[in-house]
Amino acid sequence: MTTDTTTQNTPDATTPGAPVLDARGVTMRFGGLTAVRNVDLTVGSGEIVGLIGPNGAGKTTFFNCLTGLYIPTEGEVRYQGDILPPKSFKVTAAGIARTFQNIRLFANMTVLENVLVGRHTRTKEGLWSALLRGPGFHKAEAASRARGMELLEFVGLTDKADHLARNLPYGEQRKLEIARALASEPGLLLLDEPTAGMNPQETRATEELVFAIRDKGIAVLVIEHDMRFIFNLCDRVAVLVQGEKLVEGDPATVQGDERVVAAYLGEPFENAPGAAEVAEVEAAEAHADATTDAAPGKENDR
Ligand SMILES: Nc1ncnc2c1ncn2[C@@H]1O[C@H](COP(=O)(O)OP(=O)(O)OP(=O)(O)O)[C@@H](O)[C@H]1O
Ligand SMILES: [Mg+2]
Repeated sequence: MTTDTTTQNTPDATTPGAPVLDARGVTMRFGGLTAVRNVDLTVGSGEIVGLIGPNGAGKTTFFNCLTGLYIPTEGEVRYQGDILPPKSFKVTAAGIARTFQNIRLFANMTVLENVLVGRHTRTKEGLWSALLRGPGFHKAEAASRARGMELLEFVGLTDKADHLARNLPYGEQRKLEIARALASEPGLLLLDEPTAGMNPQETRATEELVFAIRDKGIAVLVIEHDMRFIFNLCDRVAVLVQGEKLVEGDPATVQGDERVVAAYLGEPFENAPGAAEVAEVEAAEAHADATTDAAPGKENDR
């Protein structure tokens, strides 16, 4: 794991302003299972915040609570000071956009059309205008397409605008998801495992893309299992374990926290399977060392 937060963070990012997102005491229960328990999290303007944790920790469930997909069982979520509306399309209209862990694109639409779908919360043209296709509609459509192409250029997919989404390689589908999310002109972008399935070059490019998004004034909350990506990118990292926030802090603090290491690797415990074998091997090695040391002429072999 490496930490390289010094070169990439602008002064704005290290001195974040008022919270864009303020989640307090968020709990989500499914029957008897508490997937998220009493989680507080803020994201400031100009910040990139990471959310990490082992599989099943509740990260995606927490995202779903921030986007109106789930109504938290307890707690409240505010975006720019206002409680979130209870429907996901209203949350998008308010300014929170997201990508999905399992890519959700319209496979048989073109790349550009997928981005245009993401713009529907921002276009004023209603159903009648679309059906009648009057001058207002054509003007709005041209503006939308221009903005769509701008976003495709931003994520590096200009050449693929007319390709069907299903024909894009996996890494480019993830980029397209980001372009589609940006099409709603959000103030906060939530990314759920944006580099899953990417090769190291694509991951590095995604890192740069997230910095560029932040530089456009969009706050970012990102879930990722790739620790190098997270610790390079984020101003702050929160760790969820079994639905609870275990640790939160700057990347160096979180990386150095023993509880985080234990949460990922598991703590050694007495009478663990294999403990007897480990003890046997250690005893045999100690015995071998003792006999080697005793043997004449062996001192220089070590
Ligand atoms: N709709 C649901 N109904 C019932 N249980 C659910 C539901 N969604 C999630 N869970 C459960 O909540 C827990 C947290 O799942 P979640 O998908 O949020 O974890 P995660 O941290 O995103 O994991 P991963 O890193 O594998 O994506 C899991 O035990 C999961 O089975
Ligand atoms: Mg998940």
